[in-house]
Amino acid sequence: MLYSIYRKSEKLILVKMRWYTFLLISILTTRSISAEIYPKFPKDFIFGVSTSAYQIEGAWNVSGKSENIWDHVTHNYPSVIEDRSNADVACDAYHNIDNDVRLIRELGVDSYRFSISWSRILPDGFSNNLNPDGVRYYNELIDKLLANNIQPFITLFHGDLPNCLQLLGGFTNIKVADYFVSYARLMFDTFGDRVKYWTTFNEPKNFCARAVWGNSEQLTVAENISPYLCVYTVLIAHAKAYEVYKNEFAHQNGKLGIVLDLLWAEPKTNSTKDIEAANRIIEFEFGIYANPIFSKEGDFPTIVKDRVANMSKAQGFEESRLPALTKDEINLIRSSADFLAINHYSTRLISDDSDNINISISSQANDVAVISSVDPSWPTSEMEWLFYVPWGFHKNLMYIKNKYDNPSVYITENGFCEKASNDQGRIKYLQGYLQVLSDAISEGCNILGYFQWSLMDNFEWFAGYTKKFGLYEVNFTDPKRPRKPRASVKWYKDFLLNAKSNV
Ligand code: NOJ
Repeated sequence: MLYSIYRKSEKLILVKMRWYTFLLISILTTRSISAEIYPKFPKDFIFGVSTSAYQIEGAWNVSGKSENIWDHVTHNYPSVIEDRSNADVACDAYHNIDNDVRLIRELGVDSYRFSISWSRILPDGFSNNLNPDGVRYYNELIDKLLANNIQPFITLFHGDLPNCLQLLGGFTNIKVADYFVSYARLMFDTFGDRVKYWTTFNEPKNFCARAVWGNSEQLTVAENISPYLCVYTVLIAHAKAYEVYKNEFAHQNGKLGIVLDLLWAEPKTNSTKDIEAANRIIEFEFGIYANPIFSKEGDFPTIVKDRVANMSKAQGFEESRLPALTKDEINLIRSSADFLAINHYSTRLISDDSDNINISISSQANDVAVISSVDPSWPTSEMEWLFYVPWGFHKNLMYIKNKYDNPSVYITENGFCEKASNDQGRIKYLQGYLQVLSDAISEGCNILGYFQWSLMDNFEWFAGYTKKFGLYEVNFTDPKRPRKPRASVKWYKDFLLNAKSNV
C-alpha cells in the first residue's frame, strides 16, 4: 500500500547501474582523504546522527512497555517483512546507553536525534498511566548525552503507535490527536527542562499511507480514504501540540517542528504536462502537510483540494474524500512550527498519467496520476528506491526556500544504504550531498542543521535487517549486538573536524 504511487515506476526501471559498478567508479573518483577539500558550514551549524525507537531499542516488552503496531504486525504477520524478522531486540539500544553515547561522542557530532517510544512511556496509550521505567530510560539517555555535550533532538512519533490506539482506528480517528497532545504535554513536562529540540511527527506521508493495515491487494474504499483522514488528524495533533508548547512551556526556550520527507520530483520531459505532474506529486505528498503549516495563506494546496474534490464528485461521494479544514483549523495550523525538518534521500523523474485515470479507484495514487521512474545512469544503492542524485537535493532545498519564504530548516535524515565495511558508496554519497547542502546555504537557504541516517544498522521496516544504513555495522546474530565502525565513521569524523573550521 505504501508504495502504490511508485508501483508503476518499478516496471520502468529497465537498466540499473549495479551497486558494485557504482562502487568501482566511486573508488576511482574519490579523492584521497588527505587531499579532501571539505565544504564550508556556518560556525553554529548543528551536525548529528539519527535513529528511531522501534528501529534500535529492542526490549519490546521489558519493564511495562506495551505492544506497538510494529510489534503487533511483525509478531502476527511475519511474512510482510522481507526476512521475517522483528525488532524485539533490534540493536538492543535499551541496554546499551553508555556504549552508544560513547560512539556518538567519538564521532564528534553536536546532536543526537532519536525518538521516544509512546508505548514504552504510556503503555495504555493514554496519559493516565505513565511507565516509570520509560521515564527512567529516556532520562538516563538525555542526561548522558548532555554530560557529553550532545544536544538531544527528539521526535515524539516515529511510526510506532501503541497498538491499543490502532484498535481505535489509529490516526483515522481524530480523537487520537488529543491523545497525542496529552502524550506530548507529558514529554515536554518530563524532559523539556533539558531538551530544546522537538519534532512531533516523522514522515507522516509514510505512516499515513498505512493508517489502516489492509491485507488485500485491492484495497477497500475505506482503506483508500484512510490516508486523507490521517493527514487531517496529524495536522490537528501537530498544531495543538505546538500550541501547548508555546502556551505552557515557553519558559523552556526550546523549538518545535515537524519532519516531512521529500523525494525530489523532477519532470521527466519539459512538456507542460510533465512539469505539472512533478509539481502535483510534490503538492500531494509534501505540500499537503507543508502548505497548511508553512505557507502564508495556510490550508491544503489548491491543486490537492480541487483534484480530490472533483474526483470524489465523479465517484459519487457526497463530499470530498479529503476533509475540509475550517477557518479556525486553518488558523490553528498555520505557522505552528519553529522550523521545518526534512528527510531527504533521493530523486525521481515524473511524467503525467492523467490519461489513464481509473475513475473507479478512490486512492491517492489515482488522484495524483503520475508515473515515477529514474534515469538509468543514476548510481544505485542496495535499496531499490535510493539513487545518488545530489543535484536533486539542491533543487529540493531551493524549492523550500522559494516556496515557503525561506523557513528555518533542519535536515533530520540523509544517508545511504550499503553493506560493505569499506563503504565507499556511502562516503561518496555523503561527500556529494554535504557539498550541495553547503552550496545551498551559501545561496541563502536558512538551513541550521544536518543529521546523518543512521548511527548504526537497524530494523529497516518492511526490509527487516536486509538493508544497512549504519555508519556502524551491527552484528544481529551476536546476542551482545556489537557495533563495528564502517569506513564512513572515520570519514564523517574527519569531515566534522574540518567542516566548521573551514568558514
Ligand atoms: C526514513 C525513516 O524515517 C527511517 O525510519 C528509515 O529507516 C529511513 N528513511 C531509511 O529508509
